[in-house]
Amino acid sequence: MTDLAQPALNPALQTEGSAAVPPPFWLLAELTYRCPLHCAFCYNPLDYTDHSRELTTAQWIDVLREARALGAVQLGFSGGEPLVRDDVEVLVEEAHKLGFYTNLITSGVGLTDKRLDDLKAAGLDHIQLSFQDSTQELNDFLSSTRTFDLKQRVATAIKQRGFPMVLNCVLHRYNLPHVDKIIDMALAMGAEYLELANTQYYGWAHVNEAQLLPTREQLEEAEAVVERYRRTHGERCKIFFVVPDYFETRPKRCMNGWGAVFLGVAPDGAALPCHAARGLPGLTLPNVKEMPLREIWYESDAFNSFRGLSWMKEPCRSCDEKERDLGGCRCQAYMLTGDAANADPVCDKSPFHETVVKMVQRAASASASASAMPAAATVAREQPILFRNDFNSRKLATAAREPDVTGGSGDSGAKP
Ligand code: FES
Repeated sequence: MTDLAQPALNPALQTEGSAAVPPPFWLLAELTYRCPLHCAFCYNPLDYTDHSRELTTAQWIDVLREARALGAVQLGFSGGEPLVRDDVEVLVEEAHKLGFYTNLITSGVGLTDKRLDDLKAAGLDHIQLSFQDSTQELNDFLSSTRTFDLKQRVATAIKQRGFPMVLNCVLHRYNLPHVDKIIDMALAMGAEYLELANTQYYGWAHVNEAQLLPTREQLEEAEAVVERYRRTHGERCKIFFVVPDYFETRPKRCMNGWGAVFLGVAPDGAALPCHAARGLPGLTLPNVKEMPLREIWYESDAFNSFRGLSWMKEPCRSCDEKERDLGGCRCQAYMLTGDAANADPVCDKSPFHETVVKMVQRAASASASASAMPAAATVAREQPILFRNDFNSRKLATAAREPDVTGGSGDSGAKP
């Protein structure tokens, strides 16, 4: 029987200005980086093809048991597309027995009637289904697949089996003008929740930021539409809409604090304090194949690097708001300033804040039409979209290892 007792609080882990380290609340099991979709805003690492050796079923079961014993209660099965693995049902069954609340995060590809029935029998609690837009054209363009019709059928099949369903749609310049249609689509499908997730500029979205970043006006208009629907349809569907923090003057409290509630495990067993941690240089990620999860959470350098407040430099160190936002996002600080220990440049107290201001200004003056689907020829000429696929990943990984050999940054076409 798995030990579900909460860990004793370790006084040695007291961090300045915070209580002792709590156990993780949420485990994200990224079962695989394989994915039939090629989304331009995928948060998976650019070099995901370098980390493709996946944990076995038995190793994942150990991860679930260790995480539950640590105290985690929420569990997301994600990827890539988790359903490319044929053991999801086994893992859901084990997680259900352990007492996790389980959520399958899927594109819908591979979610057949049989698998839905088996997942229901295994005890799956919840399904999050992604769409890229309310129109077939844009949905299929941005994922570089023909999946719109399939997703519609899958949504119906999910609701027929009585699963609570959250529809997820990543928002950006091209689909923000469709927010009303996206909400109508969620209502028609009977989704209990709609997550309108404005693009966070990590991974592939960071590379495609010049294509995807919207204007402030687009965001404000979409937010007004959401407010209107909340008033009229709030009872039927709860709508989440979070403005991307590039448009703010204070950073988000990323992950609700580093090593505070979130524990991710990548397909190869690397343990992640946040979704994008793989991109931080100098951070040695512990691996569940080599270290117990309890030790990873409480003792590893990676999980302690930015925990609490003691790692902060100025201006965060002396800031009277530091306990509210915890200095913002470490990955964003690294991507935009070159040092993960800097203040998140979204904050207007950061000496690098101008970088973010300029990005927003560039988006405002971008020539691409905000309301139309980008014509492939225009996109290719002006600012190619880099689709997430194995070809581009290998090219980027090689370029990162041998910058002088490959030169360019990839190919705009989808080559699954
Ligand atoms: Fe890594 Fe914010 S995404 S700390």
